[in-house]
Amino acid sequence: MNGKLDGKIALVTGGSRGLGKWISYALAQAGAKVVVNYANQQSFADETVKWIASEGGEAIAMQADIRDEAKVIGLIQSIEEYYGGQVDILVNNATGPQPRYSIEESNWEIYLEQLDFHVKAPLYLTKAVLPGMKKKKQGRIINISSEVVQLAPPNFSNYVIGKTAMIGMTRSWANELGSNGITVNAVAPGFILVERHEGQDLEARIADYVKRVPLGHQGEPLDVGNAVAYLASEDAKFVTGQCLNVSGGVVFDV
Ligand SMILES: NC(=O)c1ccc[n+]([C@@H]2O[C@H](COP(=O)([O-])OP(=O)(O)OC[C@H]3O[C@@H](n4cnc5c(N)ncnc54)[C@H](OP(=O)(O)O)[C@@H]3O)[C@@H](O)[C@H]2O)c1
Repeated sequence: MNGKLDGKIALVTGGSRGLGKWISYALAQAGAKVVVNYANQQSFADETVKWIASEGGEAIAMQADIRDEAKVIGLIQSIEEYYGGQVDILVNNATGPQPRYSIEESNWEIYLEQLDFHVKAPLYLTKAVLPGMKKKKQGRIINISSEVVQLAPPNFSNYVIGKTAMIGMTRSWANELGSNGITVNAVAPGFILVERHEGQDLEARIADYVKRVPLGHQGEPLDVGNAVAYLASEDAKFVTGQCLNVSGGVVFDV
């Protein structure tokens, strides 16, 4: 526990598993009270909360489908009631499935499914936490984007569009909210193995990927957690509108 986020309330969407679990852990290790949001699988959320507590951190699981504005408003109210304070740190991390489609296979609904997670939900969440952040004249909004914004893999335009929109949103919101003491940044992870990759035959894909990583290996989920904890802290008080790539050097800038 380094105490850098003592007294802060953090909400991590999709904090129950994958990168979100490690983001939740890193924020809790820095002293934040963490709300581990999930949608469908309570067991992962409960396990994450238990693990964070066993490591000396504080967390609670809260279910909400963040694509539903009424549910988002309810979630923020529940957090304020439970902790008796407003959200200081919002991490827009949750994702649904990321299917690959060619242009011919794509349609508007397929694009919208990604925009729902990466644009619509962050908008609902940000609108819901802004009154509290503006009142306190401080806040941190951290959007989890991806290296795909720069790599632009084929047959993946649905996801690339969602993650690219996040970068534009991050910059525009940073300009709009800076005078309120609120910073808005993005983190762009590289290809990092999490639970959902288990059981998939990824050997060839990983070998090909690692050849392109200057640091010579894949990242770990905590690498992303640590980057988020930095952006959430006072150490990053003069950093806004940026995208921090956490990909071992696969891409250099977004
Ligand atoms: N892993 C990578 O290699 C990688 C690389 C670049 C960027 N990213 C980005 O990093 C973020 C995390 O990715 P990940 O790989 O860790 O994902 P993941 O393992 O698939 O986890 C997804 C999380 O989102 C939650 N979720 C799903 N639908 C939701 C909804 N409607 N409302 C609220 N929560 C919902 C899930 O909870 P339930 O289990 O309850 O559904 C789960 O906690 C994403 O934004 C992803 O695009 C990941």
